[in-house]
Amino acid sequence: MTGGRGFPDGPRVALVTGASGGIGFVMARSLALQGFHVVMGCRDLAKSEPLRAAIETEARASTAAGPGARVDLLRVDFASLASVRAFADEVAARYGRLDAVLANAGTFSYRREVTEDGFERTLAVNYLGMALMLDRLAPLLRATGARTGDVRVVATTSIASYWGRVSPTVRFFRRVPAFLRAYAASKLAQVLFVLQFAEEMRGTGVAANLFHPGVVATGIFKGRTVFAKLLDAYMQRTALSPEEGAAWGIRLASASEYAGRTGGFYAKEGLQGLSRRMRDRTLRARFVAATREAAEEDGAGRKAPPP
Ligand SMILES: NC(=O)c1ccc[n+]([C@@H]2O[C@H](COP(=O)([O-])OP(=O)(O)OC[C@H]3O[C@@H](n4cnc5c(N)ncnc54)[C@H](OP(=O)(O)O)[C@@H]3O)[C@@H](O)[C@H]2O)c1
Repeated sequence: MTGGRGFPDGPRVALVTGASGGIGFVMARSLALQGFHVVMGCRDLAKSEPLRAAIETEARASTAAGPGARVDLLRVDFASLASVRAFADEVAARYGRLDAVLANAGTFSYRREVTEDGFERTLAVNYLGMALMLDRLAPLLRATGARTGDVRVVATTSIASYWGRVSPTVRFFRRVPAFLRAYAASKLAQVLFVLQFAEEMRGTGVAANLFHPGVVATGIFKGRTVFAKLLDAYMQRTALSPEEGAAWGIRLASASEYAGRTGGFYAKEGLQGLSRRMRDRTLRARFVAATREAAEEDGAGRKAPPP
Protein backbone atom coordinates (compact mmCIF):
# COMPACT_ATOMS: atom_id res chain seq x y z
CA MET A 1 0.00 0.00 0.00
CA THR A 2 1.23 3.50 -0.72
CA GLY A 3 0.00 7.01 -0.10
CA GLY A 4 -1.12 8.82 2.99
CA ARG A 5 0.84 9.70 6.08
CA GLY A 6 0.33 6.43 7.93
CA PHE A 7 3.02 3.77 8.14
CA PRO A 8 2.06 0.94 5.81
CA ASP A 9 3.28 -2.59 6.22
CA GLY A 10 4.30 -4.34 3.06
CA PRO A 11 7.50 -4.18 1.09
CA ARG A 12 10.34 -1.85 1.93
CA VAL A 13 10.50 1.14 -0.40
CA ALA A 14 13.78 2.04 -2.12
CA LEU A 15 14.39 5.18 -4.16
CA VAL A 16 17.14 4.96 -6.79
CA THR A 17 18.14 8.10 -8.69
CA GLY A 18 19.83 7.92 -12.08
CA ALA A 19 18.30 4.48 -12.59
CA SER A 20 17.99 4.86 -16.38
CA GLY A 21 21.34 3.23 -17.06
CA GLY A 22 24.74 2.22 -15.76
CA ILE A 23 25.19 1.56 -12.06
CA GLY A 24 21.78 2.96 -11.05
CA PHE A 25 19.85 0.58 -13.31
CA VAL A 26 21.71 -2.42 -11.89
CA MET A 27 21.02 -1.29 -8.31
CA ALA A 28 17.32 -0.68 -9.03
CA ARG A 29 16.96 -4.10 -10.63
CA SER A 30 18.76 -5.88 -7.81
CA LEU A 31 16.66 -4.23 -5.09
CA ALA A 32 13.43 -5.02 -6.98
CA LEU A 33 14.49 -8.65 -7.32
CA GLN A 34 15.13 -8.73 -3.56
CA GLY A 35 11.53 -7.63 -2.94
CA PHE A 36 11.86 -3.86 -2.47
CA HIS A 37 9.16 -1.63 -3.93
CA VAL A 38 11.53 0.37 -6.12
CA VAL A 39 11.01 4.00 -7.16
CA MET A 40 13.21 5.08 -10.06
CA GLY A 41 14.02 8.81 -10.12
CA CYS A 42 14.97 9.64 -13.72
CA ARG A 43 15.00 12.71 -15.95
CA ASP A 44 13.99 11.04 -19.24
CA LEU A 45 10.68 9.21 -18.86
CA ALA A 46 10.54 7.94 -22.45
CA LYS A 47 13.93 6.29 -22.07
CA SER A 48 13.25 5.00 -18.54
CA GLU A 49 9.70 3.59 -18.83
CA PRO A 50 10.71 0.44 -20.80
CA LEU A 51 13.44 -0.18 -18.20
CA ARG A 52 10.93 0.23 -15.36
CA ALA A 53 8.52 -2.20 -17.06
CA ALA A 54 11.28 -4.75 -17.67
CA ILE A 55 12.44 -4.68 -14.04
CA GLU A 56 8.86 -4.95 -12.75
CA THR A 57 8.09 -7.93 -15.04
CA GLU A 58 11.26 -9.69 -13.96
CA ALA A 59 10.60 -8.98 -10.26
CA ARG A 60 7.01 -10.29 -10.53
CA ALA A 61 8.37 -13.58 -11.89
CA SER A 62 10.98 -13.86 -9.13
CA THR A 63 10.60 -15.81 -5.89
CA ALA A 64 11.73 -13.04 -3.51
CA ALA A 65 9.51 -10.30 -4.94
CA GLY A 66 6.58 -12.25 -6.42
CA PRO A 67 3.47 -11.22 -8.40
CA GLY A 68 2.79 -8.12 -6.26
CA ALA A 69 6.18 -6.53 -7.09
CA ARG A 70 6.02 -2.84 -8.01
CA VAL A 71 8.49 -0.55 -9.69
CA ASP A 72 7.50 3.11 -10.09
CA LEU A 73 9.05 5.86 -12.18
CA LEU A 74 9.09 9.54 -11.23
CA ARG A 75 10.64 12.38 -13.15
CA VAL A 76 13.45 14.47 -11.69
CA ASP A 77 16.06 16.69 -13.27
CA PHE A 78 18.88 17.26 -10.80
CA ALA A 79 19.99 20.29 -12.80
CA SER A 80 16.89 22.11 -11.54
CA LEU A 81 16.31 22.81 -7.84
CA ALA A 82 12.59 23.34 -8.56
CA SER A 83 12.42 19.88 -10.15
CA VAL A 84 14.26 18.30 -7.19
CA ARG A 85 11.91 20.03 -4.72
CA ALA A 86 8.82 18.83 -6.60
CA PHE A 87 10.24 15.31 -6.90
CA ALA A 88 11.16 14.96 -3.21
CA ASP A 89 7.81 16.37 -2.16
CA GLU A 90 6.03 13.89 -4.44
CA VAL A 91 7.99 10.98 -2.96
CA ALA A 92 7.15 12.19 0.56
CA ALA A 93 3.46 12.53 -0.34
CA ARG A 94 3.08 9.23 -2.23
CA TYR A 95 4.99 6.80 -0.06
CA GLY A 96 4.25 6.17 3.59
CA ARG A 97 7.75 4.80 4.16
CA LEU A 98 11.21 5.11 2.66
CA ASP A 99 13.68 2.41 3.64
CA ALA A 100 16.54 3.17 1.26
CA VAL A 101 17.71 6.05 -0.88
CA LEU A 102 20.40 5.41 -3.45
CA ALA A 103 21.62 8.85 -4.47
CA ASN A 104 23.33 7.88 -7.67
CA ALA A 105 22.42 10.30 -10.49
CA GLY A 106 25.54 11.94 -11.82
CA THR A 107 27.06 13.67 -14.78
CA PHE A 108 30.39 14.86 -16.14
CA SER A 109 30.62 18.00 -18.28
CA TYR A 110 33.58 18.59 -20.56
CA ARG A 111 32.76 22.28 -20.84
CA ARG A 112 31.39 24.86 -18.45
CA GLU A 113 27.60 24.99 -18.29
CA VAL A 114 25.35 26.84 -15.88
CA THR A 115 21.97 25.61 -14.64
CA GLU A 116 18.71 27.58 -14.64
CA ASP A 117 19.50 28.36 -10.99
CA GLY A 118 22.86 29.88 -11.92
CA PHE A 119 25.07 27.07 -10.57
CA GLU A 120 27.90 25.21 -12.31
CA ARG A 121 26.15 22.19 -13.82
CA THR A 122 28.28 19.22 -12.72
CA LEU A 123 28.30 20.44 -9.12
CA ALA A 124 24.56 21.15 -9.22
CA VAL A 125 23.57 17.76 -10.69
CA ASN A 126 25.98 15.57 -8.74
CA TYR A 127 25.73 17.35 -5.44
CA LEU A 128 23.41 20.27 -4.80
CA GLY A 129 20.32 18.40 -6.04
CA MET A 130 21.24 15.35 -3.96
CA ALA A 131 21.66 17.46 -0.83
CA LEU A 132 18.32 19.20 -1.35
CA MET A 133 16.60 15.87 -2.02
CA LEU A 134 17.97 14.27 1.16
CA ASP A 135 17.01 17.27 3.29
CA ARG A 136 13.45 17.27 1.86
CA LEU A 137 13.16 13.52 2.46
CA ALA A 138 14.64 13.66 5.97
CA PRO A 139 11.25 13.73 7.80
CA LEU A 140 10.07 10.59 5.96
CA LEU A 141 13.43 8.88 6.51
CA ARG A 142 13.28 9.68 10.25
CA ALA A 143 9.68 8.45 10.50
CA THR A 144 10.60 5.19 8.79
CA GLY A 145 13.74 4.84 10.94
CA ALA A 146 11.67 5.32 14.09
CA ARG A 147 9.51 2.35 13.07
CA THR A 148 12.07 -0.03 11.56
CA GLY A 149 15.42 1.09 12.96
CA ASP A 150 16.95 0.28 9.58
CA VAL A 151 16.91 3.00 6.93
CA ARG A 152 19.85 3.25 4.52
CA VAL A 153 21.04 6.24 2.54
CA VAL A 154 23.77 5.32 0.07
CA ALA A 155 25.48 7.80 -2.24
CA THR A 156 27.55 6.88 -5.28
CA THR A 157 30.63 9.03 -4.96
CA SER A 158 34.06 8.62 -6.53
CA ILE A 159 37.71 8.26 -5.66
CA ALA A 160 37.95 11.71 -7.33
CA SER A 161 36.60 13.07 -4.03
CA TYR A 162 40.13 12.70 -2.60
CA TRP A 163 41.43 15.31 -5.10
CA GLY A 164 38.44 17.64 -4.78
CA ARG A 165 38.51 21.13 -3.30
CA VAL A 166 35.46 22.96 -1.98
CA SER A 167 34.86 26.28 -0.35
CA PRO A 168 32.06 26.85 2.19
CA THR A 169 30.36 29.74 0.41
CA VAL A 170 27.31 30.05 -1.83
CA ARG A 171 29.54 31.81 -4.37
CA PHE A 172 31.53 28.59 -4.76
CA PHE A 173 28.49 26.85 -6.30
CA ARG A 174 28.31 29.51 -8.98
CA ARG A 175 32.04 29.92 -9.66
CA VAL A 176 33.63 26.45 -9.51
CA PRO A 177 35.70 25.77 -12.66
CA ALA A 178 34.24 23.10 -14.94
CA PHE A 179 35.55 19.72 -16.10
CA LEU A 180 37.67 17.62 -13.71
CA ARG A 181 37.77 20.23 -10.95
CA ALA A 182 33.99 20.51 -10.86
CA TYR A 183 33.58 16.71 -10.91
CA ALA A 184 36.11 16.17 -8.10
CA ALA A 185 34.57 19.02 -6.09
CA SER A 186 31.09 17.55 -6.54
CA LYS A 187 32.27 14.17 -5.28
CA LEU A 188 34.08 15.62 -2.23
CA ALA A 189 30.95 17.69 -1.56
CA GLN A 190 28.87 14.50 -1.56
CA VAL A 191 31.21 12.94 0.98
CA LEU A 192 31.08 15.96 3.29
CA PHE A 193 27.30 16.18 3.11
CA VAL A 194 26.66 12.47 3.63
CA LEU A 195 29.05 12.32 6.59
CA GLN A 196 27.27 15.33 8.12
CA PHE A 197 23.86 13.78 7.35
CA ALA A 198 25.00 10.54 9.04
CA GLU A 199 25.95 12.55 12.14
CA GLU A 200 22.66 14.44 12.18
CA MET A 201 20.74 11.14 11.87
CA ARG A 202 22.56 9.30 14.65
CA GLY A 203 20.10 7.54 16.96
CA THR A 204 17.20 7.84 14.50
CA GLY A 205 17.60 4.47 12.76
CA VAL A 206 18.82 6.21 9.58
CA ALA A 207 22.32 5.28 8.36
CA ALA A 208 24.19 7.07 5.59
CA ASN A 209 27.21 5.78 3.68
CA LEU A 210 29.08 6.34 0.42
CA PHE A 211 30.85 4.12 -2.06
CA HIS A 212 33.22 4.43 -4.99
CA PRO A 213 32.11 1.96 -7.68
CA GLY A 214 35.54 1.65 -9.33
CA VAL A 215 36.14 2.75 -12.90
CA VAL A 216 33.03 1.45 -14.64
CA ALA A 217 32.16 1.16 -18.34
CA THR A 218 29.03 3.35 -18.47
CA GLY A 219 27.99 6.37 -20.50
CA ILE A 220 29.09 9.00 -18.00
CA PHE A 221 32.31 10.05 -19.70
CA LYS A 222 30.88 10.17 -23.23
CA GLY A 223 31.42 13.45 -25.04
CA ARG A 224 32.17 15.00 -28.41
CA THR A 225 35.79 16.09 -27.93
CA VAL A 226 38.72 13.93 -29.05
CA PHE A 227 39.78 13.56 -25.40
CA ALA A 228 36.28 12.37 -24.49
CA LYS A 229 36.22 9.82 -27.31
CA LEU A 230 39.65 8.44 -26.38
CA LEU A 231 38.75 8.27 -22.67
CA ASP A 232 35.45 6.56 -23.39
CA ALA A 233 37.01 4.03 -25.79
CA TYR A 234 39.69 3.22 -23.21
CA MET A 235 37.12 2.82 -20.44
CA GLN A 236 34.78 0.60 -22.44
CA ARG A 237 37.71 -1.80 -22.93
CA THR A 238 39.33 -1.77 -19.51
CA ALA A 239 36.74 -0.79 -16.94
CA LEU A 240 34.51 -2.83 -14.66
CA SER A 241 31.00 -3.83 -15.72
CA PRO A 242 28.05 -1.87 -14.22
CA GLU A 243 27.18 -5.04 -12.26
CA GLU A 244 30.63 -5.03 -10.64
CA GLY A 245 30.40 -1.28 -10.03
CA ALA A 246 27.00 -1.59 -8.33
CA ALA A 247 28.08 -4.27 -5.83
CA TRP A 248 28.91 -1.96 -2.90
CA GLY A 249 25.77 0.09 -3.39
CA ILE A 250 23.57 -3.00 -3.28
CA ARG A 251 25.38 -4.37 -0.24
CA LEU A 252 25.16 -1.11 1.70
CA ALA A 253 21.48 -0.67 0.85
CA SER A 254 20.29 -4.19 1.56
CA ALA A 255 22.76 -6.64 3.14
CA SER A 256 21.85 -7.47 6.74
CA GLU A 257 25.49 -7.27 7.90
CA TYR A 258 25.53 -3.53 7.02
CA ALA A 259 22.44 -2.64 9.06
CA GLY A 260 23.26 0.19 11.46
CA ARG A 261 26.70 0.93 9.98
CA THR A 262 26.90 4.61 9.23
CA GLY A 263 29.32 7.34 8.14
CA GLY A 264 31.52 5.06 6.04
CA PHE A 265 33.16 5.39 2.62
CA TYR A 266 33.45 2.01 0.90
CA ALA A 267 35.32 0.85 -2.19
CA LYS A 268 36.67 -2.36 -3.62
CA GLU A 269 38.74 -3.31 -0.58
CA GLY A 270 36.08 -2.29 1.95
CA LEU A 271 35.99 0.65 4.34
CA GLN A 272 38.30 3.47 3.17
CA GLY A 273 40.34 5.90 5.24
CA LEU A 274 39.07 9.46 4.92
CA SER A 275 41.24 12.33 3.67
CA ARG A 276 42.15 15.27 5.91
CA ARG A 277 39.50 17.43 4.20
CA MET A 278 36.81 14.77 4.68
CA ARG A 279 37.66 14.52 8.38
CA ASP A 280 37.61 18.29 8.92
CA ARG A 281 34.40 18.73 10.94
CA THR A 282 34.53 22.53 10.78
CA LEU A 283 34.80 22.52 6.99
CA ARG A 284 32.04 19.91 6.82
CA ALA A 285 29.61 21.87 8.97
CA ARG A 286 30.33 25.19 7.22
CA PHE A 287 30.10 23.63 3.78
CA VAL A 288 26.79 21.93 4.54
CA ALA A 289 25.43 25.22 5.91
CA ALA A 290 26.48 26.99 2.67
CA THR A 291 24.89 24.17 0.66
CA ARG A 292 21.58 24.60 2.46
CA GLU A 293 21.71 28.32 1.85
CA ALA A 294 22.47 27.80 -1.86
CA ALA A 295 19.72 25.19 -2.24
CA GLU A 296 17.17 27.66 -0.91
CA GLU A 297 17.97 30.22 -3.59
CA ASP A 298 16.48 30.40 -7.03
CA GLY A 299 18.42 31.95 -9.91
CA ALA A 300 17.58 35.44 -8.70
CA GLY A 301 18.81 34.70 -5.17
CA ARG A 302 15.23 34.55 -3.80
CA LYS A 303 14.28 32.12 -1.03
CA ALA A 304 12.44 28.99 -2.15
CA PRO A 305 9.22 27.88 -0.41
CA PRO A 306 9.69 25.58 2.63
CA PRO A 307 8.70 21.89 2.44
N1 LIG B 1 31.40 5.15 -14.31
C1 LIG B 1 32.41 5.37 -13.45
O1 LIG B 1 33.57 5.01 -13.71
C2 LIG B 1 32.14 6.05 -12.15
C3 LIG B 1 33.21 6.18 -11.24
C4 LIG B 1 32.98 6.81 -10.01
C5 LIG B 1 31.71 7.27 -9.71
N2 LIG B 1 30.69 7.14 -10.62
C6 LIG B 1 29.37 7.70 -10.26
O2 LIG B 1 28.39 6.71 -10.47
C7 LIG B 1 27.11 7.37 -10.64
C8 LIG B 1 26.36 6.70 -11.77
O3 LIG B 1 27.06 6.94 -12.98
P1 LIG B 1 27.25 5.86 -14.13
O4 LIG B 1 28.70 5.60 -14.26
O5 LIG B 1 26.32 4.71 -13.94
O6 LIG B 1 26.86 6.73 -15.41
P2 LIG B 1 25.55 6.78 -16.35
O7 LIG B 1 25.31 5.46 -16.96
O8 LIG B 1 25.78 7.95 -17.22
O9 LIG B 1 24.39 7.07 -15.31
C9 LIG B 1 24.16 8.33 -14.79
C10 LIG B 1 22.71 8.41 -14.40
O10 LIG B 1 22.46 9.73 -13.87
C11 LIG B 1 21.41 10.30 -14.61
N3 LIG B 1 21.48 11.74 -14.72
C12 LIG B 1 22.44 12.50 -15.33
N4 LIG B 1 22.11 13.80 -15.27
C13 LIG B 1 20.93 13.87 -14.63
C14 LIG B 1 20.06 14.92 -14.28
N5 LIG B 1 20.33 16.21 -14.59
N6 LIG B 1 18.92 14.65 -13.63
C15 LIG B 1 18.60 13.36 -13.32
N7 LIG B 1 19.36 12.32 -13.63
C16 LIG B 1 20.51 12.56 -14.28
C17 LIG B 1 21.49 9.67 -15.98
O11 LIG B 1 20.25 9.85 -16.66
P3 LIG B 1 20.16 9.84 -18.28
O12 LIG B 1 20.08 8.39 -18.63
O13 LIG B 1 18.92 10.59 -18.56
O14 LIG B 1 21.41 10.49 -18.80
C18 LIG B 1 21.79 8.24 -15.60
O15 LIG B 1 20.62 7.56 -15.21
C19 LIG B 1 27.43 8.84 -10.86
O16 LIG B 1 27.16 9.55 -9.68
C20 LIG B 1 28.92 8.84 -11.13
O17 LIG B 1 29.54 10.06 -10.78
C21 LIG B 1 30.88 6.55 -11.82
